[in-house]
Amino acid sequence: MNRPFLKTFPNFLSLLLCVALGISFAGGALHAQSTPGTQPARAPFQAVFRLDGGDTTYAFGVNERGELQQIYWGGRIGASDTIAPPKSNPDWASFDSSYNNTPQEYAGWGTGLFHEPALKVTFADGNRDLVLHYVSSFRSDEHSLDIMLKDISRAVSVTLHYRIDPATGILARSATIESHEAKPIMIEQAAAAGFALPPAHYTLSYLSGRWAGEFTLNQEAVRPGQRILESRRGSSGHQINPWFAIGKNDAADIVDEEHGEVWFGALAWSGSWRITVEQDQLDAVRVTGGFNPFDFGYPLKSGEKLETPVFYAGYTHNGMGEASRLLNHFTVSNILPEAPNPRPRPVIYNSWEATEFNVTEAGQESLAEKAAALGIDRFVMDDGWFGQRKTDHAGLGDWYVNKEKFPNGLKPLIDKVHSLNMDFGLWVEPEMVNPDSDLYRKHPEWVLNFPGRPRSEERNQLMLNLARQDVRDYVYGFLDKLLTENQIAFLKWDYNRNWSEPGWDQLPPDEQKKVYVQFTRNLYSILAELRVKHPNVEIESCSGGGGRVDLGILHYTDEVWPSDNTDPLDRLTIQDGFTYAYPVQVMMAWVTDSPHWLNQRSTSMAYRMLVSMQGSLGIGANLNKLSDADLSTIKRLTGAYKQVQKTITQGDLYRLISPTNGSEFSATETVSTDKSQAVFFGFVHSTQEGRTFPRLQLLGLDPGAVYTLSSIEGNTVEGTPVVASGAWWMNHGVNLQLKGDFQGAAFRLEKK
Ligand code: GLA
Repeated sequence: MNRPFLKTFPNFLSLLLCVALGISFAGGALHAQSTPGTQPARAPFQAVFRLDGGDTTYAFGVNERGELQQIYWGGRIGASDTIAPPKSNPDWASFDSSYNNTPQEYAGWGTGLFHEPALKVTFADGNRDLVLHYVSSFRSDEHSLDIMLKDISRAVSVTLHYRIDPATGILARSATIESHEAKPIMIEQAAAAGFALPPAHYTLSYLSGRWAGEFTLNQEAVRPGQRILESRRGSSGHQINPWFAIGKNDAADIVDEEHGEVWFGALAWSGSWRITVEQDQLDAVRVTGGFNPFDFGYPLKSGEKLETPVFYAGYTHNGMGEASRLLNHFTVSNILPEAPNPRPRPVIYNSWEATEFNVTEAGQESLAEKAAALGIDRFVMDDGWFGQRKTDHAGLGDWYVNKEKFPNGLKPLIDKVHSLNMDFGLWVEPEMVNPDSDLYRKHPEWVLNFPGRPRSEERNQLMLNLARQDVRDYVYGFLDKLLTENQIAFLKWDYNRNWSEPGWDQLPPDEQKKVYVQFTRNLYSILAELRVKHPNVEIESCSGGGGRVDLGILHYTDEVWPSDNTDPLDRLTIQDGFTYAYPVQVMMAWVTDSPHWLNQRSTSMAYRMLVSMQGSLGIGANLNKLSDADLSTIKRLTGAYKQVQKTITQGDLYRLISPTNGSEFSATETVSTDKSQAVFFGFVHSTQEGRTFPRLQLLGLDPGAVYTLSSIEGNTVEGTPVVASGAWWMNHGVNLQLKGDFQGAAFRLEKK
């Protein structure tokens, strides 16, 4: 139960009264609401709030005007240190008011704010001025805090939710906006949170991409003005992922992989989103993130609420590497459906690249036999098993088993898979419909559309409007039936296009934009309900590869498909970028055929296996065509992988050498959280001028412990010890014999 937290604000009731009356409380006296820039007559009475977790402290308080102002976000400060209450920053001449210069926790668009607001509303009478002042606070425990703000005169309140993770110091922030105005208000912009950093030189990192080219790490200086990271696509999207990191780059304080101050964050939202990074006129930096305000509009009637997504954010003084380790441990222990102890992912076989739409009972059974012989745990049948699905032109929406391909339903195939000691997974794309389907012929009104306007198809399909209750119930219903009638352990949940014509013509015009919120909420509710009813079913989020990877979907799905691009060389960079924001635990990595369909590059099976073994391993190659030598390489390395999988997928990842920017070499290392095991990989793109592979100085080991080195694949140079201290492996390092084109090696260290 929340209870009022009155210790720091004894005069709570009088403040509440003041706020209700539209006046501010300062210095124990009542003052009429002051205009920006005017100085309060007496020393203000203020509250300070502090959250400590991991190596981080976050502090904010109520300034003399009643605004919630950020005070500090950085390394953990002493428990007995006193934090002074905040005081608003002064005007900068007559052009930049104090309201603009003061870093607010959650700024309403009012009082002449020209920075990114957290909240912007229009009232029924045309008023668009919103000034949020502190009302009250509630602490449910030492790590959680709710703060209520309210407009200075209107019945609109915002409750800010804060929770800091004691282990990592990662803060979860979100807001609940509530109106008790007699007439509806329109929310035009709603962020989950705003974060502030003091003036300094900063580097912004973010992840960009496109289909088959996701998770490219970009780094650029933070400059005056706004840098917008966003998706307007209706889902989190391939183009920019909802994650950021900001490193401090002042003269003596350069951020790199293992050093320097980094602030980072990720939005838990799978719909259109926006993160605005803004350097203001006085060089301070603000990061505001939440619903994308583009085409946004959410009306609230009296008594209604809007909950924002959660914006997670953290801090480290140990560089980009530690930032990702903190975020990834947090995701594994707090976000994933099986948190805090998710099982390592089963090694899967997926039939897509072998058969595409030409699935048959006999064909799948024969692939299953071959997969089982390799040590695969899970057999997944991909697209093509349902409706009249022979190509991508038809069938989506008709989720009955195709009788020509599976005359006796899925049971014979599933029984066969079980008899081979594997469990069974199935591909679905629940939010889509082909116009050539029974579902569309029956319910053409179920798709996103503006009546009388064209309906744009992508991959010959339209989007069902999942925001509609009847569509939501249909989608839940067929999935529930499928999972009830068949022994399915896993769904690959695909989503192969972005939105277009996002109309919701069931609702009055001024409510139709609620589709941006309700669609995603219904998606989450379907996933949540399915998981409760079918607790043993696991789910993968796929969207033509990595088009829907975010901390929102990861609360309901066990893994994601980072990219349809499985070319191993490309995968090295995709995986490198991916791991800045998301854990290896969820990063599915398949080995597919060579030459690769996208780049026509030929690579050895060992190289392909080693690249995929850096993630959660899967095999997607056509097993009917592989040579015996390749099959035995898969079997051998799958066996070796399973012995170290938990370390690779849930340990501390160190990106020793980046594969980006045309690098000739790359290397990663993962250390188990108890430091008893480490696994490291090295890759060479193409050796030039006879260069030797750089010496790998390992990280994160116990320097005083003794570790034994063994090879998973490849050799070290002559003279490398087999047994040495953690200090040796970290300081002296290890030299690999690695030359040629597309070569890889992997080793493990075991603590004695
Ligand atoms: C998407 C997925 C692929 C495959 C196909 C099936 O492209 O990313 O892995 O499942 O759909 O149509």
